[in-house]
Amino acid sequence: MATIRDVAKLAGVSVATISRYLNKTGYVNVDTEHKIKKAIETLKYEPSSVARGLAGKQTKTIALILPDISNPFFPELARAVEDVASTYGYTVIFGNSDDQGVKERTYIELLKKKYIDGIIFASNTLNRDDAVQMNQSGIPIVCLDRGPDNHSCSVVRSKNREGAQLAVQHLLAAGCRKIAHIYGPMDLITAQERMKGYEDAVKSLPWFSPSLMVSGNFQINGGMKATEQLLHTHPDIDGIFAGNDLMAVGALKALHRMQILVPQQVKVCGFDGIQMAEITEPELTTVAQPIYEMGATVSRLLIKKIEGNLDTNEIYELDVTLIPRRSTQKGVHL
Ligand code: RIB
Repeated sequence: MATIRDVAKLAGVSVATISRYLNKTGYVNVDTEHKIKKAIETLKYEPSSVARGLAGKQTKTIALILPDISNPFFPELARAVEDVASTYGYTVIFGNSDDQGVKERTYIELLKKKYIDGIIFASNTLNRDDAVQMNQSGIPIVCLDRGPDNHSCSVVRSKNREGAQLAVQHLLAAGCRKIAHIYGPMDLITAQERMKGYEDAVKSLPWFSPSLMVSGNFQINGGMKATEQLLHTHPDIDGIFAGNDLMAVGALKALHRMQILVPQQVKVCGFDGIQMAEITEPELTTVAQPIYEMGATVSRLLIKKIEGNLDTNEIYELDVTLIPRRSTQKGVHL
């Protein structure tokens, strides 16, 4: 497949001249035009969308950088981003950063070379300097879920702190008298906000102790280990609020292994609203994030920025919904 460089070499002109000719973005004299036309015909050259992008035209492509594609929360988010982007004629390419700053910066450099029109970061390691640098390089960015709280870019996320309060109040209303919290990685603003919401709801109650809060790393295995640790140090726990559904699934598994009945002996509530929560045994009560609405909103925001219809940075916090299921049902007897 001939490239723009092959055409430039055969025509005896620079790549920039070929690009000017192809995209009609500057003067090319008649003699040079003839040479270029002849070289294109000889090589059967077809400009790629990236070549058009080189001349500053849009490639109608956006990138979505996710932290952990193995967590079902993110594919549901990606689905919404892609559905909305496609209605505006944009293609979406995905990357998995593992919430590692180095991988994210690698993506940023790669995406700059690929002439991406804009980037959505569902990331926690992006800082103000990154966001300023991206904006100065002409690549609009917006953040999703875990973005920086410093107005260096627009962020779309859920009302995490209020959602955590909702979860604990639901467990208290279901009759729980001692509730533990399994929290996510403390470098993530979503985990920090949910822990604050748990503390808001329990810190003034007589049974509260910081030892009732244990890390689960937003993973199933982390939820299992945290639950084993909690029931070892506090055998009288009768409620667990997990900061995401995967850790809540881990808690159900650990309680089953310890032959502790849910909801009869311990009630469990998660956070996210992933589809897996509907098929656990018992089905998992959760605080559902508006996953599809989050993805759709951030996609529309980025496209508005790309097309020059939005130049402010706002934080959009979307409402969450408690979905009661059997894992917190009241009055179920042994
Ligand atoms: O389950 C993954 C978690 O990471 C979700 O709660 C989401 O909010 C993200 O922060």
